[in-house]
Amino acid sequence: MKKFLIIYDTSTGNTGKMAKYIAEGAQSVLANVMVKSINEFEVNDLEGVTGIAIGCPTYYRALTDGMKNFLEKAALEMKKEFAGKIGVAFGAYGWSGESIKLLNETMRYFKMKVLEIDQGTTGTPDETLYLTALSEIMEKSVNFGKEIAKQITKTKSKRRLHFRKKITERIKKARKKVTKRRA
Ligand SMILES: Cc1cc2nc3c(=O)[nH]c(=O)nc-3n(C[C@H](O)[C@H](O)[C@H](O)COP(=O)(O)O)c2cc1C
Repeated sequence: MKKFLIIYDTSTGNTGKMAKYIAEGAQSVLANVMVKSINEFEVNDLEGVTGIAIGCPTYYRALTDGMKNFLEKAALEMKKEFAGKIGVAFGAYGWSGESIKLLNETMRYFKMKVLEIDQGTTGTPDETLYLTALSEIMEKSVNFGKEIAKQITKTKSKRRLHFRKKITERIKKARKKVTKRRA
């Protein structure tokens, strides 16, 4: 069964809410969905995971210090565990939203298969955004989660791809034999 892991950091709670709604949306498609903040995360959580969504808000056009530390540790100690898995970035932001691009770049460096599904904007330059998530975040995040889960469901496992390759090779060989016999 395909497993989807959501890892996030948040300062005022908006990215945390997004993570929860993304999980809700994903659970309508996939049974195995897990949500962990960077503080709750353990390396064992990566076991058997097909797709990972990493979420971080944008502050001063950058990732949070917590997320930077988490990614640094992941790069040093867990790069192999992340490699080959599907990756999606998300995060609450007010106007520029650099975290999404930074997370996408890092996941590519981890050799993950990055899906650039659009989470939609989470804000406009409005002072209320500093403290409050817009109500639209909920609907957008639920749909975003559903879309990620659909993409994860569609991916073929490494074992299945290997099996398919072997079968294609056998068919090719058998066809060659028949052609040779006929000639
Ligand atoms: C001090 C401060 C700096 C911020 N800098 C940015 C920024 O550079 N770009 C941006 O898009 N949003 C910026 N924001 C908006 C936050 O990303 C937004 O409030 C977001 O919802 C916070 O997410 P969180 O609740 O998960 O921490 C800033 C907010 C604060 C309070």
